[in-house]
Amino acid sequence: MSTTGDDRNRQVYHARGVARHYQQKTLTRVEAMALLKYHATFAQLDILDLGVGAGRTTIYLAPLARRYEAIDYSPEMVATMQATMPAVSVHLGDMRDLSCFPDGSFDFVLGACNVIDAVNHEDRGRTLSEVARVLRRDGTFMFSSHNRDLFNALSAPRLELSRNPVTLLLNLLRWVRQVANHMRMTPLREVRPDYALLDDDGHDHALLHYYVRQDYERKQLQQFGFETIEVFDEAGRSLDPNERAPESPHLMYVERKH
Ligand SMILES: C[S@@+](CC[C@H](N)C(=O)[O-])C[C@H]1O[C@@H](n2cnc3c(N)ncnc32)[C@H](O)[C@@H]1O
Repeated sequence: MSTTGDDRNRQVYHARGVARHYQQKTLTRVEAMALLKYHATFAQLDILDLGVGAGRTTIYLAPLARRYEAIDYSPEMVATMQATMPAVSVHLGDMRDLSCFPDGSFDFVLGACNVIDAVNHEDRGRTLSEVARVLRRDGTFMFSSHNRDLFNALSAPRLELSRNPVTLLLNLLRWVRQVANHMRMTPLREVRPDYALLDDDGHDHALLHYYVRQDYERKQLQQFGFETIEVFDEAGRSLDPNERAPESPHLMYVERKH
């Protein structure tokens, strides 16, 4: 059987030591702005954190929640969470199948750092449907997603030049790795006007990510029972519904479940 994008992404996220790439303890500017603006949708309420990684968002959300649950399909990430935050409830599981949670069990679901982009178009539908199922009526889904309208979304890896010979050598080695990964991923790439599956800077082009246009994503979310409340660009600027934001690598969506 041929290798799929899902296989490639699993190879990266299940690799031994992957959690060391996710040791940041800070929120991005847009995450901080969106969470502050919509804090009433999760403070003292029930939160599910999808693809939690090493718990970057846990340290902010868990203390504010009435109940905080996290899920990740990587045994490495889950083991890291269990070792570093033993009091937090972390499930080893896939966001495409949230059957470990009953219908309507959360007020707020977070998908930070483009986690829902790690699956293909059909599986994105499964994920959205599962998120809608586990959310209570009027619950909020806040997530980021890669922007299909990013001006250089389709670019191949680029060598970063430097006057410093050591930096240049390191950049060159990284670029060779990126080109090798990019060539391996090329048969798996899928480019459509509204969305695309692309490798990018993330893990040196070894991952396949879903990129989507804002207007198309709004329609996709509607099909799964969501209403878009607000979309931010990377700088935390609120976008008009048809704005393309070509400078923003990803967009942050705030959705309310009907
Ligand atoms: C880019 S990391 C983001 C980690 C964390 N959310 C953060 O913001 O720091 C993506 C995470 O999603 C997890 N992931 C990817 N696909 C998944 C899936 N289908 N189900 C559950 N977790 C998944 C990966 O194992 C990884 O921990």
